Amino acid sequence: MKPIDLIVIVQPGLERYARLELMSLGISDIRQIKGALLCKGHLTTLIRINLFCRTVSRVLCNLGTFRAGNFRHLTDGLASLPWDDYLPPNLIDRGFSFCLRVHSYQSDLYHEKAVAQRIIHFLSDRLGGVIPVQSSIQDENTILLVIHIKQDLVQVRLDSSGIHLHKRGYSKFTETAPLRETIATAMIMASGWQVSGLDLLDPMCGSGTIPIEAALMAKGHTWERHRRFTFMDWACFDPGLIGKALASLPESCCVQRNIRAADSDAKAIATAQDNCQKGGVEGSVSLSHQSLDQWLDEDLRQTMIITNPPWGIRLVGGEWQTAMTKLTNRVASIYLLIPDHEIPRVKPRKTIFQTRCGEINTTFCLL
Ligand SMILES: C[S@@+](CC[C@H](N)C(=O)[O-])C[C@H]1O[C@@H](n2cnc3c(N)ncnc32)[C@H](O)[C@@H]1O
Repeated sequence: MKPIDLIVIVQPGLERYARLELMSLGISDIRQIKGALLCKGHLTTLIRINLFCRTVSRVLCNLGTFRAGNFRHLTDGLASLPWDDYLPPNLIDRGFSFCLRVHSYQSDLYHEKAVAQRIIHFLSDRLGGVIPVQSSIQDENTILLVIHIKQDLVQVRLDSSGIHLHKRGYSKFTETAPLRETIATAMIMASGWQVSGLDLLDPMCGSGTIPIEAALMAKGHTWERHRRFTFMDWACFDPGLIGKALASLPESCCVQRNIRAADSDAKAIATAQDNCQKGGVEGSVSLSHQSLDQWLDEDLRQTMIITNPPWGIRLVGGEWQTAMTKLTNRVASIYLLIPDHEIPRVKPRKTIFQTRCGEINTTFCLL
């Protein structure tokens, strides 16, 4: 099989960290655009990115590129693509559905809904039945197709991931305003904790996303036993490929240190405890029910704090800032994810990266 064009979707702001992850898999020649990284690879490359890259949202593969200035060209182009290699066999009988996203720029086929309808007709004819269509990805049985048309050049991109990759698959109870796992990973990577030799503390851990991700990274944990990926249903997929993909993964480069997490809310700690257990890291994360100012009595000189304090409309801020300021001279470093509107008040020393959490623009910074 020829190498395929891969479109690695990343939350804007995290591209740099996803790129480092791709490079650690030996992938070179990576083109970075806002919200995506473009590279080439074989099926094992695609599988490795899905299983290993912790800052990536999903991986699409380009089934083919063709010119289409009208609907007949579109149907001819679609007919030339290798659908049988990729789509799950008997997908209608097996309850699969499609979710289509069409984006057209500077092209004669500018009517995105009409293009989507043509594609649904084409697939129904090809697959011999009415195909169910969803407006969003419902579950592992929804096949996402992204049609990108620019200046009449059509790319048909098939999703290989399924459910968003931030859902690691250990069943997670969510506390108020949990953090996406992909962002938590980018925070840990950006802080340099993995190679710092320092202990890690999240003193406002909520449901535990940051310490759990750190523990999973330290273990070099992958997700194939915890969740399904769409590529596992493709006709060209052979389960032996998973072992092959895993055999060539890089060793975890993390120097094993203590990972601690705490919260002033007893319910949050119970949730974090449960999540640690489900993620298989209960022995790697020490949890305690305590408030931020109680850390002032401890020796934290060999500790890095990485946390996202309560903020704005997601969670009303408490008095965390006073305690955090007092901790500044007692710990090795403090990294915070805060909303942009808090920057003038918090006055961080350095901005590391900016991204969005839901509707909120946020900054990851060094205090
Ligand atoms: C935005 S949430 C953290 C979310 C977390 N990163 C997650 O993934 O679930 C902020 C947390 O800080 C905790 N908190 C607020 N003030 C605190 C304080 N003074 N000491 C300790 N924890 C505090 C809240 O109980 C809440 O769980």
